[in-house]
Amino acid sequence: MLAAIRGPVLTYTGDPFEDGLERTMVYEPDAIVAMDEGVITHFGPAAQIKDVLPAGTEIRSYGSDALISAGFVDCHVHFPQTPMIASYGDQLLEWLNAYTFPVEQKFSDKAFASSVAKVFLRESLRNGITSACVFCTVYPQSVDALFEEAERLGMRLAAGKVMMDCNAPGALLDTAQSGYDESKRLIGKWHGRGRLLYAITPRFAGTSSRAQLEATGTLCNEHPDCFMQTHVSENKSEVAWIGELFPERKGYLDVYDHYSLCRPRAIFGHGIYLTEPEMQVMHRTGSAIAHCPTSNFFLGSGAFDLARAVRADRRVRVGLGTDLGAGTSFSMLATLNEAYKAGQLNNYALSAGHAYYLATRGGARAMYLDDRIGSIAPGMEADLVVLDMKSTPLIDYRMQFAKTFEEALFIQMMLGDDRAVQATYVGGKLVYARDTATPLAPPPLSASAASA
Ligand code: GUN
Ligand code: ZN
Repeated sequence: MLAAIRGPVLTYTGDPFEDGLERTMVYEPDAIVAMDEGVITHFGPAAQIKDVLPAGTEIRSYGSDALISAGFVDCHVHFPQTPMIASYGDQLLEWLNAYTFPVEQKFSDKAFASSVAKVFLRESLRNGITSACVFCTVYPQSVDALFEEAERLGMRLAAGKVMMDCNAPGALLDTAQSGYDESKRLIGKWHGRGRLLYAITPRFAGTSSRAQLEATGTLCNEHPDCFMQTHVSENKSEVAWIGELFPERKGYLDVYDHYSLCRPRAIFGHGIYLTEPEMQVMHRTGSAIAHCPTSNFFLGSGAFDLARAVRADRRVRVGLGTDLGAGTSFSMLATLNEAYKAGQLNNYALSAGHAYYLATRGGARAMYLDDRIGSIAPGMEADLVVLDMKSTPLIDYRMQFAKTFEEALFIQMMLGDDRAVQATYVGGKLVYARDTATPLAPPPLSASAASA
């Protein structure tokens, strides 16, 4: 049955980094978005669309203080790290040993994995994230747990079993052969089932032997329509360590490139210290970077230079990642806030228009999914977030002085958080409403109180 929502809409028809905001950003102050069977059927000014909708179509109006956008896309995140988000003190390699590896061992227990998957996806939806590319753990049952819950919610989600066969506790290790076999079985079970997609997931070069990277390349060649996700050049000590582990390679990225892992649908987390020749490889191979600013600041990793990555002569696809639990927030607005600061440290002021592009269509493009998600247009999948542009007393106050839409948008990304998310739609269904319970994803008790 056709359903429709009404309010101000922001979306993109192209890439503002390539063609400028004027030609790619669409702001419609009073629009209707209609959806049927999971797909957007109509989008345009309310005055026009009203008259073409079938008589009796129910229109839910969010009012002029709302902003309807395509759902946010989180290109890099670890669901098993939800229980240890905000763990004190260490930088990347020590943090992995102290906090990450211990918690990931608990995911051999399917029931525990399912309980975390529920919290993780609920929090994602509460923050307007409707699609993500997700690391699970080495245990196949942790992948089943996440996909089962994502399937119940109808989300377009990519995920995969982490492969790691060295330099981690024994309980977390697979082998080159078992990592390949188990990943292959999971691909057969989940890839292309409903909206779900598989991501082949070698954790990073530090925890995979040459034999495992070789087997991973074989798997990618056998399944070129799957994603490949890993980490690269996140932290200076990590980069130096990978240099010691693989002295025969030209650099960190060359380890992956050598084993055929640089390719379309390959998403590399972080990439802060990628060199100019490495950026050229990223560009030439159609690989993408997931920019994870809250994580990069939390672990003291560094400030990713976005402007350098998207340089016009060799543009690299970039999406945003929350990268929990090194990331400190599920909020895409908080992530944009930190992305702005990372830009400032590189003498680049990320505009709000460009920032929301990265959070939506840009992320979808990094994942080669921009023909299905990330923007609002007839034929696109109906994943939407409805923001409340006056979600806190301070934002409400500050908004009185906003003279332009872009200024209002910037205020949201600097001051907003989960309270700004009023509703989330997945496949045309309301899966989260801040102020009321929904059958699919009831909000936690504190949510409605926080938004008052
Ligand atoms: N590098 C290898 N594993 C991880 C991880 O779990 N998180 C982050 N931030 N970096 C990594
Ligand atoms: Zn990560």
